[in-house]
Amino acid sequence: MQVKTDGRKFYEIECDALVVGVYEGDAVHSGVLGEIDRRSGGVVSSLVETGEFIGKSGETAWIHSPGDLRARRLLLAGAGKQADFTQDSVRRMAGAAARLLRGKKVRSFAFMSPIAGGDSAQAAVEGALLALFEPDKYHTNDRTESRLEEMTLVADSGDIENVERAISRGRIIAESANFARDIINEPSNILTPSELARRAGEIAEQYGLALDVLDEARMKDLGMGSLLGVAQGSNEPPRLIVLRYTAPIASGETVAIVGKGVTFDTGGISIKPAEGMEKMKYDMAGGATTLAALRAVAQLRPSVNVIGIVPAVENMPGGRAQRPGDVVRSMAGKTIEVINTDAEGRLILADALTYARQQGATRIVDLATLTGAVSIALGDVYVAVMGNDQAWVDAVIAAGRRAGEKIWQLPLDREYREQIKSEIADIKNVGGRKAGTITAGYFLREFVEDTPWAHLDIAGTAWNDSTKPHLSVGPTAVCVRTLVQLVEGAG
Ligand code: BES
Ligand code: MN
Ligand code: ZN
Repeated sequence: MQVKTDGRKFYEIECDALVVGVYEGDAVHSGVLGEIDRRSGGVVSSLVETGEFIGKSGETAWIHSPGDLRARRLLLAGAGKQADFTQDSVRRMAGAAARLLRGKKVRSFAFMSPIAGGDSAQAAVEGALLALFEPDKYHTNDRTESRLEEMTLVADSGDIENVERAISRGRIIAESANFARDIINEPSNILTPSELARRAGEIAEQYGLALDVLDEARMKDLGMGSLLGVAQGSNEPPRLIVLRYTAPIASGETVAIVGKGVTFDTGGISIKPAEGMEKMKYDMAGGATTLAALRAVAQLRPSVNVIGIVPAVENMPGGRAQRPGDVVRSMAGKTIEVINTDAEGRLILADALTYARQQGATRIVDLATLTGAVSIALGDVYVAVMGNDQAWVDAVIAAGRRAGEKIWQLPLDREYREQIKSEIADIKNVGGRKAGTITAGYFLREFVEDTPWAHLDIAGTAWNDSTKPHLSVGPTAVCVRTLVQLVEGAG
């Protein structure tokens, strides 16, 4: 879809549909709404006065031949109470409108944001482009009869340049997120660790990032026994994917983004039940999101160096698979007793985090579909964050707030360390039923030493279980926006 801006008055813009947000209790006789009401022969005030449309969030009214407008249709979109309306509401409103209009075979639409300014324009573009993503790659009959071709952001208050910059940013970020969603959707017979590395190579080439892909031999040389222990049950060879962005004017910081890339998680010998196991193809969402963040960063060019690191493995119960009770030696030198082979994410991340430090990271953020327990704690609403440096954790939460992604901190107090003590090794890979998300986080903490680090558990939020007005079912690519915001703020 093309996105452009237009500085003319909203009633001068020719398009299939004009989308206008309406707050609950909005005055229908003055301002923009009043102007539309007059031009449409009172249709807005009539809808509101009869109570057929009162501006509740999610409510819509679809109006044919709306009178003296150059738009052929008018979509009134309920915005809810003005006091509750945020930048993220703009994102959802634009998204829901785009999906609804596509369903009505609309090809071009103009969007009037209830909030003026660049940030809101960016949110509108992100919302629309994210909303139009469909996981339809493997349908052999083309099920989309209609395509939205053009979105015009109404900028009649005059800040066209600002809006143009916002459009370009919004497009980069949303297309990067959709790139991640596409990879996350790929079935595991297609998206193996090697294939993930190949796709990272495509980004590197296209956007000018440096790429290094470590194979098994190099990982062995580095002593990555923890990662290799997980990989050994599969015929698919593991990869450690490294993408590097070097800033034109770099600050002193090097941010490492480390993402879990388990291309399929059977659980290994501690095998998972059959029910729902097909979903474990999304166990590389953290890795895909890392690649997406680097893809966006390469285009936005912030003043901080960024390394993206994705340990990519398949967790299988093959004849060479590791067993519960095995002890492996990590790159950091710490020994790990593998109590449960299904707690594999932390095992591959342990070595990837050590590698990030070795590569000169001064700050680390990792993201992983790490624990089922995070869904019990926070559902599909909040991403969990934990860390060893409160200022860095706060920066992550603040970046999330700006990006419209909800992140909630869980504690990592020393007491939790007791649960991952091992009788025969330095540490064990599971901590029992209590506080499963936290003990997983604590395990990772053991490998970052004193480097400021934050860990995001996205197991509850990376997959959308049912289609929403503004989002298709499937991968959300949660945290792409947060990571971009975080990196831009770290410069
Ligand atoms: N990939 C899973 C976590 C997961 C579960 C992600 C459900 C998305 C949805 C992870 O590797 C895992 O299996 N974790 C175990 C840990 C346990 C063995 C300590 C879990 O959460 O059950
Ligand atoms: Mn697992
Ligand atoms: Zn997993």
